[in-house]
Amino acid sequence: MIISHLSNLHGEIIVPGDKSISHRSIMLGSLAEGTTEVTGFLQGADCLSSIACFEKMGIEIENNPINNMVKIRGKGLHGLTAPAGVLDVGNSGTTTRLMSGILAAQPFSSKVDGDASIRKRPMGRIMTPLSEMGASFESLATDKCAPFIIHGGKLHGIAYNSPVASAQVKSAILLAGLYADGVTSVTEPYLSRNHTELMFEEFGVDIKSQGTTATVTPANKLTAQHIHVPGDISSAAYFIVAGLITPNSEITIKNVGINPTRDGILTVCKMMGADIKLSNVKDDIGEPVADITVSTSSLHGCVIEGDIIPKLIDEIPIIAVMAAFADGTTIIKDAQELKVKESNRIDVMSTNLSAMGVDVEPTDDGMIIKGGKPLHAATIDSKLDHRIAMSFAIAGGLADGETNILDAECVNISYPSFYEDLARLNS
Ligand code: S3P
Repeated sequence: MIISHLSNLHGEIIVPGDKSISHRSIMLGSLAEGTTEVTGFLQGADCLSSIACFEKMGIEIENNPINNMVKIRGKGLHGLTAPAGVLDVGNSGTTTRLMSGILAAQPFSSKVDGDASIRKRPMGRIMTPLSEMGASFESLATDKCAPFIIHGGKLHGIAYNSPVASAQVKSAILLAGLYADGVTSVTEPYLSRNHTELMFEEFGVDIKSQGTTATVTPANKLTAQHIHVPGDISSAAYFIVAGLITPNSEITIKNVGINPTRDGILTVCKMMGADIKLSNVKDDIGEPVADITVSTSSLHGCVIEGDIIPKLIDEIPIIAVMAAFADGTTIIKDAQELKVKESNRIDVMSTNLSAMGVDVEPTDDGMIIKGGKPLHAATIDSKLDHRIAMSFAIAGGLADGETNILDAECVNISYPSFYEDLARLNS
């Protein structure tokens, strides 16, 4: 896809619903008693994979893609039935790992598989703790990747010290913990997104968080809820950065989730000197939301490291683009996890930014970017990674010449109307 030039971005935009919260609404809704009603559900391919998997386990789910309302007729904690055939997770790591936590406790076995990217992503990180709890895994691939079979079992509570700050790992264990014979806790090196903990509380589960430890008491039942999914800050991030680096621009992104475990992008924008303001700050079932207004700013480099990394892990590709437009050096450290996302984002960002003439050095745990020079058009291989495609739609829109993004339609994973929404702001 040839990318349009960007200039004078103006107006208001509502981005689609949060991907993490949408997935969790399907899973907890399926395990609850009664009908859970979700508004603002993300119609991205990843969340549709979660719907398809739970439908395959006997849950009736009514999805209306016109108004983004979903009704899930929950069957209770013990209501899932053995799937006929493979549970196809598509491109979705969140579906794979969170659902595995639930499958670990079922009185049946399930085969989980996904696309070529999923087949490369590390699953040992959930197999280890879930096996410790009493499930067993048969890996049908090398290196503990998908496809795999989970044999559900009677689970024991564990106190798990996770080697990675990963909400997917934490959530898999907490979901399994709903079925365990005692309390289960997960401690992470840094706090990762806490949407599972917040939604557990809404559904009536006894969950406690202290520092980087979350502790769940096995549940008797979950009660159906109404869930309003806020706009996804990870999708808003492309417009935040576009508004800051495109000349003569001012954009307001309405109703964005600003959960403190997800708001690292806002902190980084401020560190880099951005003109960014929040208004209409409200709390929606423990998930704070706000309108975010950004205007063209002159930015400078900064160091991004340590406990902020999990709070902006999915935004690093677009932060790297922002760094290319900022004066001075930006250093991103402690972000090894980028290597095991939908693509190896350290490699793919560095290769593509270099192709555009940016001075970027990939490191073992991040990137060093010397910004401030004009970008040149290039052919960008998205590697079918939605966040790479969206990041380079912004970078390419501000480069001289014609940038072509390969497999640009992979934005369907998290933001099907991305290119249309960007075009609307581009006057
Ligand atoms: C997610 C957690 C993060 C994030 C992913 C969504 C979630 O992954 O990158 O897009 O919904 O729990 P990790 O847990 O692997 O860091």
